[in-house]
Amino acid sequence: MGRIVTIVGTRPEIIKMAPVVKALDRLEHEHVLVHSGQHYDLVMDRIFFRDMQLREPDHRFELKEQPPYLQVATTMRDVAEVAGNSDLVIVHGDTNTTLAGALLANKLGRPLAHVEAGIRSFDKTMPEEMNRIVADQLSRILFAPTELSKANLARENVTRGVHVVGNSVIDALTQNVAVAEERSDVLERLELTPRRYLLLTFHRAENVDDKARLAAALDAFASVGSETGLPIIFPIHPRTVKALRAHSLERRASDIQSLRRIEPTGYLDLLVLEKNAALVLTDSGGLQEECCFFRVPCVTLRENTERPETLDIGANVLAGTDPPRVTKAARSQLDAKKDWPNPYGDGTTGTRIATIVNEFLG
Ligand code: UD1
Ligand code: UDP
Repeated sequence: MGRIVTIVGTRPEIIKMAPVVKALDRLEHEHVLVHSGQHYDLVMDRIFFRDMQLREPDHRFELKEQPPYLQVATTMRDVAEVAGNSDLVIVHGDTNTTLAGALLANKLGRPLAHVEAGIRSFDKTMPEEMNRIVADQLSRILFAPTELSKANLARENVTRGVHVVGNSVIDALTQNVAVAEERSDVLERLELTPRRYLLLTFHRAENVDDKARLAAALDAFASVGSETGLPIIFPIHPRTVKALRAHSLERRASDIQSLRRIEPTGYLDLLVLEKNAALVLTDSGGLQEECCFFRVPCVTLRENTERPETLDIGANVLAGTDPPRVTKAARSQLDAKKDWPNPYGDGTTGTRIATIVNEFLG
């Protein structure tokens, strides 16, 4: 029997690893689930364990309010003992938790598997891009979501141990949409009519940490709101709450009539909000992917994306944060034909990963 150690720590890791964790739990190997503590508020963390009926982590650590270098260093120190005698360490995505887990596996001499390997924005100023590159270079097993991500890895001379398995975002969606529609009353609670509102999420460091960029984005939201005449529902990430305060932009945000700021929502509420939106405006990675599945058009408030598959099929356009550009993109995406195919697989990524892990452990 082998020993698998899976490390998660943030909202998207919990959501996208939930189906993978459940599939790994069904193997006849010991499977230890570790939470770094990078995200810690109820609505950024525990709510997803509840919504997705995911078991509690075997180990949960504290990282509250730490700067990035300490998130990485502390996680490496905290998780070292648990991961020390593992036969495989598994990390997901591109966060500081991912980087810490990858470096730790390397320093302990344990094999590493990376879920969502090979996606690239080709923008090395993003912390996420460097985290992905390092994790991929250190991995023995690489679970690439698409052929395009496999090709990105080949360009970096990573060709061994690469498996194209789709993206577990689709597993999470297929396993939870029906439950969400049955249980969530978010539309009634917020008094929303399907297709008569826009959904906005906005939290990237490069967008909110810079005052001028955040201010431009607020103008863009105001412009899209008045152009479409629709309310913009904005479940607001704690990083953005802090940035609005730090840049003294809270008043400017609350002056935008169409902008309805709400707490971050649980997964089931978010799925219902997303599925019924006329349009999604976002800088999130996960929402770009989910929009493909729901056939809801997306406008990405960034200059690049590591999800070019979403652009190729017309589900998504890049618009940055410049108000006229965002408004134009929103208008054209609202009119777009919404018949694209989903490029991220059929919702069997978790079981495919578990099969490959089982073969690896022998
Ligand atoms: C991290 C990831 C990002 C991902 C995002 C998902 C890195 C480098 N970035 O960014 O790729 O898109 O998670 O949401 O890892 N905070 C709270 N409560 C929480 C969580 C965070 O108040 O539950 C605060 C932190 O204290 C910090 C800020 O939000 O002040 C940013 O959190 P952090 O985890 O450092 O990065 P994210 O912006 O969440
Ligand atoms: N999400 C959620 N509630 C929210 C905002 C997002 O459940 O208020 C979910 C969303 O459905 C997606 C994931 O969180 O599955 C995306 O996480 P985030 O945008 O924080 O990270 P990223 O994908 O950009 O790394």
